[in-house]
Amino acid sequence: MFNKRVKIKDLLQQDANEQEVTVMGWVRTFRNNQFVALNDGSTNNNLQVVLELGKFDEELLKRITTSASLKVTGIVLPSQGKGQKLEVKATLLEILGDSDAEKYPLQPKKHSLEFLREIAHLRFRTNTYGSVFRLRHALAFAVHKFYNEKGFLYLHTPVITASDAEGAGEMFRVSTLPFDNPPRNEDGTINYKEDFFGKATNLTVSGQLEGELGATAFGEIYTFGPTFRAENSNTARHLAEFWMIEPEMAFCDLEDNMNLAEEFIKYIIRYAMEHNREDLEFLAQRLADEEKQLPQDKRSELGLIEKLEFVVNNEFERITYTEAIDILLQSPAYKKKKFQYDVKWGIDMQSEHERYLVEKHFKKPVIVTNYPAAIKAFYMRQDDGCEPGRETVAAMDILAPGIGEIVGGSQREERLDKLEQRMKEMHVPAEDLWWYLDTRRFGSVPHAGFGLGFERMVQFVTGMGNIRDVIAFPRTPKNCEF
Ligand code: 4AD
Ligand code: MG
Repeated sequence: MFNKRVKIKDLLQQDANEQEVTVMGWVRTFRNNQFVALNDGSTNNNLQVVLELGKFDEELLKRITTSASLKVTGIVLPSQGKGQKLEVKATLLEILGDSDAEKYPLQPKKHSLEFLREIAHLRFRTNTYGSVFRLRHALAFAVHKFYNEKGFLYLHTPVITASDAEGAGEMFRVSTLPFDNPPRNEDGTINYKEDFFGKATNLTVSGQLEGELGATAFGEIYTFGPTFRAENSNTARHLAEFWMIEPEMAFCDLEDNMNLAEEFIKYIIRYAMEHNREDLEFLAQRLADEEKQLPQDKRSELGLIEKLEFVVNNEFERITYTEAIDILLQSPAYKKKKFQYDVKWGIDMQSEHERYLVEKHFKKPVIVTNYPAAIKAFYMRQDDGCEPGRETVAAMDILAPGIGEIVGGSQREERLDKLEQRMKEMHVPAEDLWWYLDTRRFGSVPHAGFGLGFERMVQFVTGMGNIRDVIAFPRTPKNCEF
């Protein structure tokens, strides 16, 4: 058996018991022809492997270069060195794979995140990305744990669809037709009847519509999968391919929906704080160091861990869209004309407005509800008793400090006539969504759900400023490497 090894994380938690162990990993550094810092990805803490002088062949020692992979068998002993309680004194050492130190792009020094993005195939081997991706894993696991404990069914919704769930037209087309000479209808438009699926199809922007079909049978479901948006947004918060968690609940209104979202976010943060403390501490320090370069007024008031503690221990603020607009209109920022975009009832709030509410005014996560119908998707439940011209829907967005919108959701329009009328007004083709409308024909129920952008959540927990640094291989406009 090859893989009879201990993981370095587990080993470092043991006592220096003078037993023999085998470890495998990649060389981080090699000092004085004696000390190898070995890392196997289970933790940022390297294992010190000690090579007794004269015991190993010179030729072998020369091959211990940065990022070479090693198999080491040795005895676990108390360490003389600072900052580590044990080390492994090697009895056997095998090079599993050489690494040409001259060509290896990751030198043992500080590299910029921008540079590391260009070598995303190797960046997992750095401490920063090691911590980020272990935390990403922990959060993903916590998502499933949370919903499983609540009795939600994990529904795998399709990646290829023929509908536009958000009605925003930001879809990637999926087609096997020849680009240079596609079959055409008489009017010159492309004849998708000849395409693979016999109709125009695209990558999904959201699993919600199929999720609603599940919720109106199983009661409570969630999806967790990749979603795709062909929006040309080159920002630190947008990806063309991102992961979304979408719970959907029958017999549930807007308030239940907000309660679930708040409980969910707190749960997964708490899970990461309990299970990945070391990685969080590493990233907290990284962020603190980064912020030292900023002028005092640009630095965060709280460190990363204090921020997370604050979020799990305090209630999110809940305000209506109308109240949010009033706060903005009363704000010193508005009065001093500090906002680039105008503020009035009906606007789709810009990120500067959301940040003001969350970071300056409330200084905590804020749930904004009851947005104008005109700026929200067709499926949201129309609020009753609105003033004419001020129609709103039972929507809720959660805005998080440093991130902006992290959750978007709503109670759904369960009344068939109102839904059909809204679809007509918004030019959403009812004939394509006959199956969706059937849920409103056969035992319709009040129901609600939301979508949490997983990468934005990982950004929030890790403190990483750019979304490209929390997904393994980011897809953004003009960028699809790896
Ligand atoms: O607000 P959105 O568009 O809502 C939906 O897709 C609904 N169908 C969800 C639902 O009710 N089931 O997207 C939900 C979340 C956003 O709040 C944001 O966190 C994230 O998905 N998101 C993105 N994350 C990264 N890159 C993008 N381009 C994103 N677009 C949305
Ligand atoms: Mg949204």
